[in-house]
Amino acid sequence: MNPASRSPAPNPRADADTPVLVVFGAGGHGRVAADAALASGAWRAVMACDRREALWGSELLPGVPVVSPATLRELREPWGLHVAIGDNASRQREARALLADEARQARLASVIHPSAALAVGARVGAGCLLAAQCVVGPLAELGEGAVVNHGAVVDHDCVVQAWAHVAPGARLGGGVRVGEAALVGAGSTVLRGLAVGARCVLGAGAVALQDLPADSCWVGVPARPAQAAGHDVA
Ligand SMILES: CC(C)(COP(=O)(O)OP(=O)(O)OC[C@H]1O[C@@H](n2cnc3c(N)ncnc32)[C@H](O)[C@@H]1OP(=O)(O)O)[C@@H](O)C(=O)NCCC(=O)NCCS
Repeated sequence: MNPASRSPAPNPRADADTPVLVVFGAGGHGRVAADAALASGAWRAVMACDRREALWGSELLPGVPVVSPATLRELREPWGLHVAIGDNASRQREARALLADEARQARLASVIHPSAALAVGARVGAGCLLAAQCVVGPLAELGEGAVVNHGAVVDHDCVVQAWAHVAPGARLGGGVRVGEAALVGAGSTVLRGLAVGARCVLGAGAVALQDLPADSCWVGVPARPAQAAGHDVA
């Protein structure tokens, strides 16, 4: 797309229309999202929701109660839904299920920590998480539900497609394309201009020197194919 033809993106940090935010997923990733939401000051109230009954009535963080999905139907004020599950497929699946049922009145909300650096022309889709100290460079694009975690760098002109996760401390060089629901593991690096295929997993600490095909798993420096057992992926 010619950058000159882009319409100005709405300010993704502001959320005046939905005074309440529900963070779905009361685990560690949910804590990161709720913390960023509180720090952003974009919502009057932040609450959490989870399907695990054992968590109902507890607090995800001080002042952030965990409620059941059924409780969401009782919310009267306009509210935003942020699905905060580290595993990409689960995050996508839950977002679809909630928006079709308990969250029919809500819209997907992005959460952006105030210390996240969002460059001019960067575009953030609905339901994204930009955690503390991350960088999203000029003209980079994040698709729906994408995660740029603590300290990760998505450099200029990158495209991170929907439900992908750039894990803490990972670095994407300029113009990298990350496919839908791919995981760029913690502390890994993808050299500029490369493509990471959909649902691909780049292991923690790896350095990708070539395009990575969809549905593959790569580890090491330089990154080489791995036989992922399929556990501990996120
Ligand atoms: C690559 C990864 C997905 C593999 O997970 P897995 O399917 O459970 O695989 P295993 O742990 O059984 O490891 C399989 C093999 O790869 C090796 N391996 C796993 N992760 C590795 C890594 N990051 N770097 C180098 N080697 C790695 C293991 O030592 C093992 O080698 P072996 O077959 O010679 O014994 C996982 O280790 C990983 O790095 N995930 C990224 C996690 C992350 O960054 N999450 C973000 C948190 S917010």
